[in-house]
Amino acid sequence: MSCRSTLPRFAVNRAATRMASLHRQRVRRDGAADDPPALDLKDIPAALLPDVVAGWQRLMESEYESVVISGWMTGALARLGAPLDVLGAFGRVVEDEVRHVDVAADVLQALGATPTLPRDATPPVLAWRDDAEADEQAIAGMVAFFVIGELVSAHEFRHALNLVKLPIAQWALSEIHRDESFHGAFGFEAARLFVPDFKPVQKDRLRVRLTDELARFERRIGGPLEGPPRELSQRERDMAALGLPPPVVMLSVFYDALEKHVLPRLAELGVDLDVHVGHRE
Ligand SMILES: [Fe+2]
Ligand SMILES: [Fe+2]
Repeated sequence: MSCRSTLPRFAVNRAATRMASLHRQRVRRDGAADDPPALDLKDIPAALLPDVVAGWQRLMESEYESVVISGWMTGALARLGAPLDVLGAFGRVVEDEVRHVDVAADVLQALGATPTLPRDATPPVLAWRDDAEADEQAIAGMVAFFVIGELVSAHEFRHALNLVKLPIAQWALSEIHRDESFHGAFGFEAARLFVPDFKPVQKDRLRVRLTDELARFERRIGGPLEGPPRELSQRERDMAALGLPPPVVMLSVFYDALEKHVLPRLAELGVDLDVHVGHRE
């Protein structure tokens, strides 16, 4: 986050052209999605407001990062000749992630904040060289982002939904979660086309890459988790009710999803990861 904070920022613009009404239709799922419930700022303890704004701002930034990365992945998969059902699914992910940025921006505006994003925050993750390794790296990046990142995120959103009480935060989390619950599966289906045919040396490189990705994800949500399980503080419960569960909750969801979902799916791809799951004492 510290390097991001020095990047120039721009205000999110949701309606700049005549395509704005089409965008609005997509964001509201052609009328199937509700408008965001009204928010009375008096419902949010004043002492929590800065952290609530910062938390939703971070969530919007990570949705925007997903727009950039899923866009790249779609391009990379098209370039290496992936089937149309895969490309269609990935194109759908890009559309979903744009929608999630818009939904998070609604929450920020209701909180009285101006939604802003850092420019050029996401470093290019793919190798665009024309060599044999470029395809392998694109697939490895796709597995890291989708089979780990998106799959775990879906579980994080589901758990956050159990704890949220503020109506507009509940609306936003459920709008995001309904899409996220498919994204990890799309990545896994795409990975099944490519990864089982990797040579042993390519699988070794993938293992290293994915082990790094797990550590990065764990750090990103505030880990590793130190010490034995503990009760949440009142402030942590209040933040979770506003849609922002504390690191201790997010980490336990992460370890659980890793053990029950991520590692078994990677094993199905023929990639066994030797990671030790759970909190560290
Ligand atoms: Fe998303
Ligand atoms: Fe996603």
